[in-house]
Amino acid sequence: MLEEPCIIQMNIDRFTAMLNLRLADDQRARIEQSLAEAHTQLGQAIQRLARAIEQDEQAEVCTQARPLPGRSHPRQSVSMIMRRWALVAFVAGATCGVVRSASAQDAAAGEAVFKSQCGICHSVQAGKNLVGPSLFGIVGRPAGKAPGFHYSPANRDSGLTWDAATLDRYLTSPGTVVPHTIMTYGGLKDAKKRADLIAYLSTLH
Ligand code: HEC
Repeated sequence: MLEEPCIIQMNIDRFTAMLNLRLADDQRARIEQSLAEAHTQLGQAIQRLARAIEQDEQAEVCTQARPLPGRSHPRQSVSMIMRRWALVAFVAGATCGVVRSASAQDAAAGEAVFKSQCGICHSVQAGKNLVGPSLFGIVGRPAGKAPGFHYSPANRDSGLTWDAATLDRYLTSPGTVVPHTIMTYGGLKDAKKRADLIAYLSTLH
């Protein structure tokens, strides 16, 4: 059995130093939260994988000749070590992925854009509709699916899915992409701000 999956407890300072990143406080707080969630899920996944590996190894040992007394079976120990390293590499990769994607696209700047441009009509809390629908989980969601929100037929029947590219076009000029939408927002013309904003929206899951 793997004991504690120690690599996922490497703290954020070591990761940011490794990746040569400088983080603002709020970026750091969000990354810490994402990491904590990822750690919990990965920890559970590792325990399951470790159990599966153990069972698998036992099965393998049964099909092999018994090792000499007092000596472990060489084939078994090599394959166990390799699998464990594969697991550790997977965990490290997943954890680094969280850190990289969150900072590279500057979701923190996007949150500020959201507050100034969108927050008056949209909440990011799940299920909380204001003048506009909740934008929790919006990235990747088909149009018109926030529970309890009364959409215009234009939005509801648009057939769009809010992936990053579609959001980018929509937020540039909502009325062009969804004619007759009841979202009375003129559009965000600054491409960098749109990219930051979409990076922020992608974190809302
Ligand atoms: C004046 C209020 C208002 C502002 C400001 C506003 N929205 Fe909206 N938004 C709405 C309304 C109302 C709808 C529903 C549109 C419809 O049904 O036609 C909507 C719909 C949307 C949708 C489609 C949601 C879905 O589930 O299909 C997205 C995405 C969206 N807004 C993003 C944004 C973003 C990002 C901003 C900031 C750049 C923004 N909105 C600013 C009111 C607003």
